Amino acid sequence: MSTQKGTPPPPVLPTPVLRARGLVKRYGQVTALDGADFDLLPGEVLAVIGDNGAGKSSLIKALTGALQPDEGTIELDGRPVRLRSPLDARRHGIETVYQDLAVAASLDIASNMFLGRELRRPGPLGSVLRMLDRRRMREESAAHMAELRIGLRSLTQPVESLSGGQRQGVAVARAVAWARHVVVMDEPTAALGVKESAQVLDLIRRVRDRGLPVVLISHNMPHVFEIADRIHIQRLGRRVAQVRPGDHTMAEVVAIMTGALELTGGDGGTVVADEGAAEAVGVRPGPG
Ligand SMILES: Nc1ncnc2c1ncn2[C@@H]1O[C@H](COP(=O)(O)OP(=O)(O)O)[C@@H](O)[C@H]1O
Ligand SMILES: [Mg+2]
Repeated sequence: MSTQKGTPPPPVLPTPVLRARGLVKRYGQVTALDGADFDLLPGEVLAVIGDNGAGKSSLIKALTGALQPDEGTIELDGRPVRLRSPLDARRHGIETVYQDLAVAASLDIASNMFLGRELRRPGPLGSVLRMLDRRRMREESAAHMAELRIGLRSLTQPVESLSGGQRQGVAVARAVAWARHVVVMDEPTAALGVKESAQVLDLIRRVRDRGLPVVLISHNMPHVFEIADRIHIQRLGRRVAQVRPGDHTMAEVVAIMTGALELTGGDGGTVVADEGAAEAVGVRPGPG
């Protein structure tokens, strides 16, 4: 091998698990997505942030089959996909946890875990009489909860008897149980208190440690900085920057989000700002 001194080989970038290019979505006169790109790398927690109206929800909906973009492409593990519905996205191994604690309150935990994917009893009891295999669903749920270290006294208690954090735990556990490629979480801590939020953040870490990448939409900057490996910053319908929390202060990231600062040159690029904005966020303006 002959490598020239001083010229390191170009970095080999992993194939993104989920990738989008040039997503456009218009609602009449409003352009919700204006050529949005997106990259989720293997094994990472990617936070998606942006001001109200920046197109976060539209982006996430396009990536989870809840919205059909007018233009643009989506790839899963390097292969083009069309996600025609949320169910279609689930079939592709993309699971979504919605912010409104989307669990069936009157059902027990095991039933929630298998909601829409119930296991039937073996033989004609299941195939003809459609009888559910409740015992196996309970056993598999219990094993899964234990693996994620979600402490619950009983899997037969109705979900409505759980705290908000425990319910969110059930919703996350369900998504993780079925997701083969990606888990998307829309503001999973928005409805939770401090302690419960910490538990959900811990859970997200364990999910990532199992190798499943997580997309986390969040308004909570401390949470984002605590847990994200990278941050996708959405503004005016497109991705304006991708940054690593360690490379930027929270103030800088917020300034990029609001348009007070611009990054040039992609990841870790030069910070460009006018003097006033730079003073406001405590960074030096870049050259130019
Ligand atoms: N179903 C819809 N009909 C009309 N306009 C919409 C619809 N959904 C989103 N928009 C508009 O698209 C823009 C982006 O919205 P959204 O994706 O919800 O952004 P965010 O989640 O970042 O707040 C906003 O101006 C919003 O009002
Ligand atoms: Mg939104």
